[in-house]
Amino acid sequence: MAALLLNFRNTIIASFVLALIFIIGYGFDGVGFNEIFLQGVFRWLHVASGILWIGLLYYFNFVQIRIMPTIPAELKPGVSKYIAPEALFWFRWAALSTVIWGLAIAGSRHYLVNVLTLGVVSDTGGIDAKYTLLGAGMWLALIMAFNVWFVIWPNQKIALGLVEADADAKAKAAKTATLFSRTNTLLSLPMLVTMTMSQTIFG
Ligand code: HEM
Repeated sequence: MAALLLNFRNTIIASFVLALIFIIGYGFDGVGFNEIFLQGVFRWLHVASGILWIGLLYYFNFVQIRIMPTIPAELKPGVSKYIAPEALFWFRWAALSTVIWGLAIAGSRHYLVNVLTLGVVSDTGGIDAKYTLLGAGMWLALIMAFNVWFVIWPNQKIALGLVEADADAKAKAAKTATLFSRTNTLLSLPMLVTMTMSQTIFG
């Protein structure tokens, strides 16, 4: 057991295998392997990716960005050269995976256009609050994902010295990355309200 747990890759593989057993259980003893089952799988993939993405966003904001100024200069490269690049790798791909599976849920529930138009396109003819609220949350999350890929990551590459830049450019990039990372932290809680309350309230 220790051999499995001391190897990160094997631990994740074992976790996936266990998850698969549960998923198959839901298929056999639930609705069968149909569209609803697939929606359940999309939700699992979506929430697992979202936890990784927002978990790392919170790591950056609750821990790394706050503590970095207090770390002695000779120790800073430990974070900027080793920890941050690895964390940013999982961060940006988890963000993309969250978007893909989130859109897949909306597609499989046949309301993708309704939510993306914030409920203006609805089944009832009028504006549908369910789609307005969930759509607003999805747009917040899409803006957050855009920030990750097109603002935070390019600026972090400069700030961390992964691409050539002078000291001024690095300082400017670090500030921009921090501001957008904070923006995403600000948007995260309202975004999560819509993700978690929609199904509870509207079904
Ligand atoms: C662009 C990104 C995102 C999109 C397109 C998206 C889309 C969706 C959709 C369509 C649902 C189903 C809502 C319903 O009908 O009840 C959902 C649920 C959910 N999402 Fe997201 N979402 C995104 C980002 C996130 C993030 C970053 C998290 C963070 C963990 C997250 C967590 C959740 C949770 C926990 C649920 C509830 C699942 C359930 O009740 O079964 N989402 N999302």
